[in-house]
Amino acid sequence: MNQPSILLDGLPVPFVDGQTIMDAAMAADIFIPHLCHHPEFKPQGSCKLCTVKANGRYVSACTLPARDGMEVENNSPDLNDKRRTLLQMLFVEGNHFCPSCEKSGNCMLQALAYELEMLSPHFDQFYPNRPVDASHPEVLLDFNRCILCELCVRASRDLDGKSVFSLSGRGITKHLIVNAESGRLADTDFSWADTAAHVCPVGVILKKRSGFAVPIGKRRYDVEPIARQVERLAARRADEES
Ligand code: SF4
Ligand code: FES
Repeated sequence: MNQPSILLDGLPVPFVDGQTIMDAAMAADIFIPHLCHHPEFKPQGSCKLCTVKANGRYVSACTLPARDGMEVENNSPDLNDKRRTLLQMLFVEGNHFCPSCEKSGNCMLQALAYELEMLSPHFDQFYPNRPVDASHPEVLLDFNRCILCELCVRASRDLDGKSVFSLSGRGITKHLIVNAESGRLADTDFSWADTAAHVCPVGVILKKRSGFAVPIGKRRYDVEPIARQVERLAARRADEES
């Protein structure tokens, strides 16, 4: 029996049973924009950056199982326009002052904004005023940059076995909290060696006393902006097909 496949932007992409559209795309070296997805964690579908059109309907690629013959649109002006709006909403909801952020150049939110040519925040800024947590000896938390992707929540709970982080509240009041009676990171068993310390795609979980160590031009997305990753993936795919 032939392996089932989806048609992703007109290209047949095989998948195995149980894979999502995102899994199939990643396995075929095709980039679908995403923020809350990480191949090592269970998908949760919150950022909506991976929105694609599957058989004409808007869906999250990271949660929708692939089905044989499904026609999926990913890289289109319509979808990228919607993704740009989602990025603008994330930028105004937090305080993303990139020029003073240690994560600048290593930040996935910023890199996607460059990739999708987001030129302005467009909406009014919310200017949240959540106190930073500098209680931990190794790590600083700046909650004003949190995009609620829950990667740290999932990493701490599922890989580190510690459940240091949670989301609390609803709607616009939803925010990241530290699971300690005091609410302080210092009162948990969190450590810089934890997986959760290294998964934040933005500048919330930062190592103390080591800021701005990588020169501009050598930071992660300076060296390989997302556009270049997309080109590299396409080139690899073309090589494999020839
Ligand atoms: S702290 Fe970082 S990893 Fe955790 S939910 Fe916020 S943005 Fe995501
Ligand atoms: S990556 Fe799919 S919803 Fe965030």
